Amino acid sequence: MQTQSNSIAAVFEERARESMATSETLLRCDNLRKSFRSGAQEIVPIDGLDFSILRGEMVSIVGPSGTGKSTLLHILAALDTPTSGTVYFGGNSLRSFSEAELAEYRNRAVGLVWQRHHLLPDFTAAENVAMPLLVRGVALEQALQTAGGWLSEVGLASRTEQRAGELSGGEQQRVAIARALVNGPALLLADEPTGDLDERSAENVFELMQRLHASYHLTSVLATHNLSLARRTGRVLLMERGKLTPATNVHADSAGAASVPTGPDQNLGRVQVTRV
Ligand SMILES: Nc1ncnc2c1ncn2[C@@H]1O[C@H](COP(=O)(O)OP(=O)(O)OP(=O)(O)O)[C@@H](O)[C@H]1O
Ligand SMILES: [Mg+2]
Repeated sequence: MQTQSNSIAAVFEERARESMATSETLLRCDNLRKSFRSGAQEIVPIDGLDFSILRGEMVSIVGPSGTGKSTLLHILAALDTPTSGTVYFGGNSLRSFSEAELAEYRNRAVGLVWQRHHLLPDFTAAENVAMPLLVRGVALEQALQTAGGWLSEVGLASRTEQRAGELSGGEQQRVAIARALVNGPALLLADEPTGDLDERSAENVFELMQRLHASYHLTSVLATHNLSLARRTGRVLLMERGKLTPATNVHADSAGAASVPTGPDQNLGRVQVTRV
């Protein structure tokens, strides 16, 4: 018997397939605006933002703190709604999705990785990775088996039974990446995934993301303050004054970026970004 969840997934996948046939754009933002009210003040981190990403692209978003990178990723993940404007996934407006379809979108279409891994420290690595499968009703044994496969994929086959709280920062982020991918999303959204890691762990986690991006035909959006990693993605966009603009000539020394630029053509110590 088909469960409600399965039938929703079928509808969702059919929809996505239809639009994929006519367009290679996976995600598109049309005149996006997001404002927050803080007392008498209105904060507008996103203001008339247009953005699209082709299937298979890996794009990084850089920009000073507080410019709206996380706000945008939350909107793309349907964890928050824009004040105005529209996000299209596979040609379908997220506004047209029912609550059940939005839940399906969050659980199946999008994988999320945060700066802090948000693992459950008292649960094992495998249980953490299995969580999104359990949420959509997969049986425990099957979920743990699939989770074990993903832990092998991220180089942690020997750690499946270890409590997440006992793993190193880099290992925890690998578990978080496995958890993000366990439901086979098309889109991977990562918000400063290496922000809490030392240089070597950051490099390892970034290389893992690049490998998985290619192996699983992902479309990836990465917000980062690390410009030396950003410039190794296919496209670097600068978040500034509520909009995304293409950035070229992204320079950072081998240690990556400790700071980010505050505007075009500004050289803040070791880092320089020039807008097109
Ligand atoms: N829920 C909220 N309520 C009020 N203001 C908010 C809320 N979320 C974000 N903001 C404000 O929106 C602006 C953008 O925040 P955001 O976290 O998106 O920036 P960011 O580019 O991710 O910064 P960082 O690089 O430090 O992570 C900030 O001024 C922030 O204070
Ligand atoms: Mg942020």
